[in-house]
Amino acid sequence: MLVCSGLLLFRRVLTTEDEYLEIPSISRQRAGTYECTAINDVATDVQTVELTVNYAPTLSEGKDVGVTLGQQGVLQCEADAVPAADFEWYRDDRRVFNSFDGIEIEDSGALSQLTFFNVSEGDYGNYTCVAINKLGSANASIILFEVIEPTSSTLLQGPGAVQDGNSASRAAHTSTCLLILLALQLLLKF
Ligand SMILES: *[C@@H]1O[C@H](CO)[C@@H](O)[C@H](O)[C@H]1NC(C)=O
Ligand SMILES: *[C@@H]1O[C@H](CO)[C@@H](O)[C@H](O)[C@H]1NC(C)=O
Ligand SMILES: *[C@@H]1O[C@H](CO)[C@@H](O)[C@H](O)[C@H]1NC(C)=O
Repeated sequence: MLVCSGLLLFRRVLTTEDEYLEIPSISRQRAGTYECTAINDVATDVQTVELTVNYAPTLSEGKDVGVTLGQQGVLQCEADAVPAADFEWYRDDRRVFNSFDGIEIEDSGALSQLTFFNVSEGDYGNYTCVAINKLGSANASIILFEVIEPTSSTLLQGPGAVQDGNSASRAAHTSTCLLILLALQLLLKF
């Protein structure tokens, strides 16, 4: 008797018998460990088979990143791929390399990170992450854009883009200033 669990394109030779299991449509969800048990009068034989499903990389939509001049900026690119993807970064059409101009590229598993240690004016722009494996490639673009740190002068000019952990209190401060300005204007009208 031959009992095989799961659906697997699987060939088990047992004395003169051949057994096939076929997966009609292979998909990522079918990856895993399959077990085949062969039983006869003499013995029971269990064999496990690891099924790996390979697929080309897919990338989630790139999220644009805002950074203030002189601060650290990190662009992230996450790929779903088997086998794991290799990454390449481009600034427009130019390849960006590791440890060049205060830039570090770090890959770990599904994630690639491009770090600017000290963002300068010239760093702002359009970056493209390309993920490649033997089955194909995918790319996603991320804009690194400038965020103006609110100062006493920008606060009076109105709400600008804000950033980081203090943003909530800064934003609140900005709208308080605006409210006072509005109130002043209203008072002046009457
Ligand atoms: C970042 O770069 C600017 C301009 O090159 C420099 O003035 C500043 O000191 C640098 N900041 C850090 C933290 O390295
Ligand atoms: C960024 O660059 C990519 C690749 O060159 C391009 O397809 C995309 O339209 C660019 N995005 C913007 C906002 O310019
Ligand atoms: C990015 O992907 C598009 C299709 O999705 C393709 O036409 C283009 O050549 C790719 N760009 C790079 C740099 O791989």
